[in-house]
Amino acid sequence: MSDDSQAATSSPTGTPGDPSQAWVELAPDYERARAREDSLDRLVEWPAQRELLGDVTGRSVLDVGCGNGGKLAELVGDGATASVGIDVSGNFLSAPPASLEFIRGDLSELDTVPGLAGRRFDRILYLQSFGYAKDPVRTLQAARAMLADDGFILLTRTQPIRYAVEQAEQNGTSLGEEYFSTAPFSYLSGWNDQITLTKRAYTISELLNVFSAAGLWIETAIEPQLSEDARRRYPHKHAWMNKYLGILIFRLRPR
Ligand SMILES: C[S@@+](CC[C@H](N)C(=O)[O-])C[C@H]1O[C@@H](n2cnc3c(N)ncnc32)[C@H](O)[C@@H]1O
Repeated sequence: MSDDSQAATSSPTGTPGDPSQAWVELAPDYERARAREDSLDRLVEWPAQRELLGDVTGRSVLDVGCGNGGKLAELVGDGATASVGIDVSGNFLSAPPASLEFIRGDLSELDTVPGLAGRRFDRILYLQSFGYAKDPVRTLQAARAMLADDGFILLTRTQPIRYAVEQAEQNGTSLGEEYFSTAPFSYLSGWNDQITLTKRAYTISELLNVFSAAGLWIETAIEPQLSEDARRRYPHKHAWMNKYLGILIFRLRPR
C-alpha cells in the first residue's frame, strides 16, 4: 500500500523531523515494495489512477512526488509529451525517455523550483505525495496556476479511516476518537523497519475544504478496490483492504 504520511522522521542517519532526508533513504525500499506482484499499488492504485487519467497522447504531465518516475515513464510511453517528474529523494530512473525530465525538488516550493518557471501542464499528479505539503492550500494553488487550459489535477490520499483503525487498535481507543484526533503519531514505514513515519490525522471534510480553498472542484472521486480475480489470488490483500479500505482518488479542476 502506498502511503502519504505527513512526514517521515527518525531515520538512523537523518535528522529527526527532516522528511526529505528520510525519503532519500526510504526511496529504494519503497520502489522494491511497489514492484512486488502483490503490491496494492500494482493491483489497485496505479490501474485506477491510469484509468482516471485517460488518453494522455500529446498531453504534458507534471508528476509531483514522482518517486523513481516509473509511472511517468509509462505515461510517456503512452504518448505524453514534455513531461516533468519532481521528487525530493532524487532516486530517479537512470535512462528516462527523451521527452521526460526529472528535477530534484520540494513539492512545497513548486512556484520557485528552477526549471518549472513559466511552464504549464495538461495533467498534474500528486500520487500519494500530497500529505508531505507543508501548506496544502498554497501547494495546490501553485499547481492550479501551472495548469494549461482544460487541465486537471489527479490527487490521491490514503483513506484517513485506515489510520484511525490502526491507532484505535494500537491505543485501545475508539474509531471516532482517533479519526478526530489532532495529535501527531508515528509508526514504522513498513518498507524499512529502521525508518519511522510521522503523521497527523486528517478528516475527509478537512481534505475537501483544502480543495475548495485552493479554488478547485471535484470532477470525480473514486475509492478503488481489488478485482474479483485479484481477491482470489491475493487473499491477504483482500483482508487488508477489507480492514483499511485503501485510497481516495480525486480529479480536480479549477473553478
Ligand atoms: C508514497 S511515495 C509515492 C511515489 C509515487 N508518486 C507513486 O505513486 O508511487 C511518496 C513520494 O513523495 C516524495 N516526497 C516526500 N516529500 C517530498 C517533498 N517535500 N517534495 C517532493 N517529494 C516528496 C517521496 O520522496 C516519495 O517518492
